[in-house]
Amino acid sequence: MNYKIAILAGDGIGPAVISEGLKALNAIEKKFGYRFEYEKALIGGCAYDDCGKPLPESTISIAKDADAVYLGAVGDWKYDALPAEVRPERALLGIRKALNLFANLRPAIVFDELIEASTLKHDIIQGVDIMMVRELTGDVYFGQPKGIEIINGERAGFNNMIYFEKEVERIAHVAFQTAMKRNKKVCSVDKANVLDASRLWREIVTTVSTNYPEVELSHMYVDNAAMQLIRNPKQFDVVVTGNIFGDILSDEASMLTGSLGMLPSASLSNNEKGMYEPIHGSAPDLKGKNIVNPIATILSAAMMMRYSFGKNEAAESIENAVKAVLKEGYRTQDIYYGNKDSIRLVGTTQMGDLISNKILNS
Ligand code: IPM
Ligand code: MG
Repeated sequence: MNYKIAILAGDGIGPAVISEGLKALNAIEKKFGYRFEYEKALIGGCAYDDCGKPLPESTISIAKDADAVYLGAVGDWKYDALPAEVRPERALLGIRKALNLFANLRPAIVFDELIEASTLKHDIIQGVDIMMVRELTGDVYFGQPKGIEIINGERAGFNNMIYFEKEVERIAHVAFQTAMKRNKKVCSVDKANVLDASRLWREIVTTVSTNYPEVELSHMYVDNAAMQLIRNPKQFDVVVTGNIFGDILSDEASMLTGSLGMLPSASLSNNEKGMYEPIHGSAPDLKGKNIVNPIATILSAAMMMRYSFGKNEAAESIENAVKAVLKEGYRTQDIYYGNKDSIRLVGTTQMGDLISNKILNS
């Protein structure tokens, strides 16, 4: 089996974590006899430095041509003063839109080995396994009109929160289908007590739910959801929500697990094509120190195996290798908590080596 993977390492710690992810992919190739063909492209600040655009046409076409996209992170403080249209973050929004990656899956799973790394009480978080399904190409992120203009003699900034029926419908289907493979519960998060966009969202999610009679649907206002995620996260199975609420809640959910450095993500379209990236950012302050956790990126490769290539065995092989290495006590700095006699601090490259060796030798 041959697969083409576009490698968009990006800025900051992106290249470092992608290197470790590639070690895991190489191990998977050897173990299962697949062939991965990699094509590198620039995205974010490094692309801007190269050609004045954070998302060059050539990068979009390489990504479109590939079976899957593997992305590190974009952004650096040195680009903070740039105009909005050429900021590195724009590239992320642009590639999501260009590839029609409307469904963003962000699992938040608490590993037993890392329970000490969470800031919450053990009994609250032990066993947490939430799949956040975030709509990724609509909402206030992309709505028109938008801008900064003079209105009534003073400057005003505005963005339009808008959802089209079809956009809500297709993300709702993804959420229900995801729930069918899990614990058959969907919680749809909105702000229907205030926002019209949310009233339509709720109505459509409810209509779509009739196609999935086995799935239990509940609705929750976003402020309450933010609170419930901390109070009792185990009540959630699949959470489905719009782009902006999902952005905020997925960061919150990630901290249940102790570290942003653990969480992978998949951004999917209607076809098999997907983009896989850690949910953390580019952390320019940590660049070049060999201390960041590559696990989120490595687990994103597992999601690629599962969602783009339909290779569950390969996905599990990566996930089991991560668990085994954690069980043996290896920790990067962000998850170096607990009894120091039974854990060992390792750097980014060592963690990548340990996991890829484990994939090959188990
Ligand atoms: C994310 C990020 C992005 C977003 C930024 C970097 C544009 O926060 O993927 O969650 O807001 O979607
Ligand atoms: Mg975010």
